[in-house]
Amino acid sequence: MAKPHVFISRRIPQPALDLIASTCTYSMWDHLSPPAPREVFLSEAARADGVLVMPSERIDAEFLDAAPRCRIVANMAVGYDNIDVAALTQRGVIATNTPDVLTETTADIAWALLMAAARRVVEGHKAVQAGRWEPWHPFYMLGQDVFGATIGIVGAGRIGTAVARRARAFHMRVLYHNRRRSPQLEVALDATYRELDDLLRESDFVVMTAPLTAETRGLFGAREFALMKDTAVFVNVSRGGVVNEKALYEALKAGRPWAAALDVFEVEPTPPDNPLLQLPNLVATPHIGSATLRTRTAMAMLAARNLVSVLHGEPPLTPINPEALRHTTWTAPLSSKED
Ligand code: DGY
Repeated sequence: MAKPHVFISRRIPQPALDLIASTCTYSMWDHLSPPAPREVFLSEAARADGVLVMPSERIDAEFLDAAPRCRIVANMAVGYDNIDVAALTQRGVIATNTPDVLTETTADIAWALLMAAARRVVEGHKAVQAGRWEPWHPFYMLGQDVFGATIGIVGAGRIGTAVARRARAFHMRVLYHNRRRSPQLEVALDATYRELDDLLRESDFVVMTAPLTAETRGLFGAREFALMKDTAVFVNVSRGGVVNEKALYEALKAGRPWAAALDVFEVEPTPPDNPLLQLPNLVATPHIGSATLRTRTAMAMLAARNLVSVLHGEPPLTPINPEALRHTTWTAPLSSKED
């Protein structure tokens, strides 16, 4: 029996490639940047039984029409706002993501951003570099205290919980907002639930960790920023789409919130002339929440395992739409592992 064929939309860590190659044939866009042009991606997908993709690939009806053989889309990310899950489910195509393996690494970047913005690390570095370092005086480069402050975490999933765990070590009061109450946060981490407006009013640090969905798109706009303290720091490690960037620009210029730190932008890479980048109270990183070699290897391995499992008739490890199996017309494995 022929081995299943896989398309991999970017170069991935070798152990994951080896795993795929052990039971599948594959083609790969063997570059890191830029991604394959859309037409190349679609024509490669046309002959694939499964694809391993990055968050930058749009998986929608156009993709499904172009890739009639495709049985699994393995996303190498936990967020899957790039995937039209309903369309895949309807056609019996499984989608998978990579939860858990990146939780701690992403919580670390949330904290790196929080600390950097609170204590003006990037602004200070630039001042030193540019010879604008003023001799020590009592009012130079004053920041915000982190220890003992109040942190408001939006999203009570794995990453939000990991952010809260770190906050306990800083003796912070932890507030959270989520669609559902989280016993884990409340009992294990002594966090207190708040309606969003109350959380915004009370928090010294507002950290957005919830995924981008129809409900969270544009969640942070002029109204929400106006509710924050004029000493507050806003951190976003979710997706750029949860923030209205124009509103954030105006809010930061007006000094409420006091500063913001973003790992994600509405358009990525964000153009260098994005006005936000000109503001001294904005810290930006280029979507590096999960960017350590160990974590990226774990993400690629999980995506590869999902892909290989489904293509050999086994259940995926981390499905987004397990109900797709009910719609699927294929049940038998494409090939046996011995192929
Ligand atoms: C994710 O997994 O969703 C991250 O944003 C990718 O770095």
